[in-house]
Amino acid sequence: MSDRIILFDTTLRDGEQCPGASMNLREKMEVARQLARIGMDVIEAGFPCISDGDFESVHRIATEIRGPIIAGLARCVASDIDAAARAIAPAGDRGRIHVFLATSAIHREFKLKKAREEIIRLAVEGVKHAKSYVQDVEFSPEDGSRTEPEFLAQVTEAVIAAGATTVNIPDTVGYAVPDQFGELIRYLIENVPNVEEAIISVHCHDDLGMAVANSLAALKAGARQVEGTINGIGERAGNAALEEIIMALRTRPEAFGNLTTAANPREIVRSSRLVSRMSSLLVPRNKAIVGENAFAHSAGIHQDGIIKNRSTYEIMDPREVGWGDTELPLTKHSGRAAMILRLTHLGFTLSPEEQDALFTRFKQIGDRKKFVYDDDLAALMEDGPLGASALYTLEYFHVTSGTTTVPTATVRLGRVPSAGGPIGNGTEPEILQDSAAGNGAVDAAMKAIDRILGKRGELVEYHVTGVTAGEDALGEVVLKVDFGDGRIVSGKGASTDVVEASARAYLNAVGRVHRPAAPQGNAAP
Ligand code: KIV
Ligand code: ZN
Repeated sequence: MSDRIILFDTTLRDGEQCPGASMNLREKMEVARQLARIGMDVIEAGFPCISDGDFESVHRIATEIRGPIIAGLARCVASDIDAAARAIAPAGDRGRIHVFLATSAIHREFKLKKAREEIIRLAVEGVKHAKSYVQDVEFSPEDGSRTEPEFLAQVTEAVIAAGATTVNIPDTVGYAVPDQFGELIRYLIENVPNVEEAIISVHCHDDLGMAVANSLAALKAGARQVEGTINGIGERAGNAALEEIIMALRTRPEAFGNLTTAANPREIVRSSRLVSRMSSLLVPRNKAIVGENAFAHSAGIHQDGIIKNRSTYEIMDPREVGWGDTELPLTKHSGRAAMILRLTHLGFTLSPEEQDALFTRFKQIGDRKKFVYDDDLAALMEDGPLGASALYTLEYFHVTSGTTTVPTATVRLGRVPSAGGPIGNGTEPEILQDSAAGNGAVDAAMKAIDRILGKRGELVEYHVTGVTAGEDALGEVVLKVDFGDGRIVSGKGASTDVVEASARAYLNAVGRVHRPAAPQGNAAP
């Protein structure tokens, strides 16, 4: 059995299922490029049948991303599998179809209303149908960890005989505990007669906070593919955090039988930040490996130890995972080429129109702040004319606020002529202006925007963070808005002024609301 673990990243599928985390095409492409750069073996790019947007992003990723295998998810339903096959087709022999069907008693009885024999028949049919398109077919028995082990073994044997090259055992509801989950994997390896013909994979959710521990137990027991996401984002409590698995295997090789991965750990922090930015999901400060505090030592006794010898309190070198890889900041005197070079280094790819738009914003910020850091640039990438807010641009705003004044705001927006069309095509935006009073300056500015747009968004979450240090730091606002159509939409905006950052974030959310909704009845697991 090989010691090399296949890393299957589902940030763009299961990760994106996290409420408020949905990414637009541009954001998905940035993430996909970074996943390839860090060295993921498989990128699950989406669930193509679920919406035109999902189909398009899987297709684009399959067309443009070189290196990793590109997988598309499908239920064991012919039309799902057909859509997945079309979406991944540009990847050629690097294309994988991932089909799934629930197998546990509770799902069989209440969700599917099907007997065991019927489940096996549908699973086999699904795998065979997928196999008619591609060689590389993965099958997942959904809720595998709660499925009767003998039945799970029967399903596994049947789908391998039908052509599945990977069988992935999901702990769909995060119910497993490490010893029992490892045992289950060992049981399958010992009891499925044709198990050698496929890779056994695992996919763990974090409902009990054990997704990484369960994944590692399964690898120890013989699984050779592990599924997860960057920062552990995903449905409910999330998926196994791949950066933690990568570093656990590197830091404690003796504990896991010297298993290796192809990941470049120096890309971990960059990947984490990019995913956090693109998904609008902030990384908790105390998150292992990638949280701001992961390598910060505040207790005097710890600091003393670190000064004497870092290994007294550090089990990993922060530089090994990409902390501290910052370069000299840019200033307002820096040219366009320097800005583009830095963005490329950060993992962003810009069209000439986008370069123009960003350079204008860069100069504006350069006038207000002494140094423009990498994080400032990355934050700028996501608002203004580059982000989803391209429908409206913030042209001007003015607020009055104080202890004895009713806060009021006047906002002027430009409506981009062909909303969704190319940016910077020379046509002038239509100017719209209105004023409103509010509970505070930020509230007043958002109400003024609501008046202009004729829609009322309800703020359900609002965070403001300093992107970089210093009095002139760029502040980034991340918010979530309920526009009343059942979708919670996130938005981001950055500025040295918190009201401006909030207005930009709100407009960014407005831009995303135009994303097509998923059809009913196709809910992903
Ligand atoms: O959690 C789950 O069961 C899934 C499957 C589709 C693998 O996401
Ligand atoms: Zn899942």
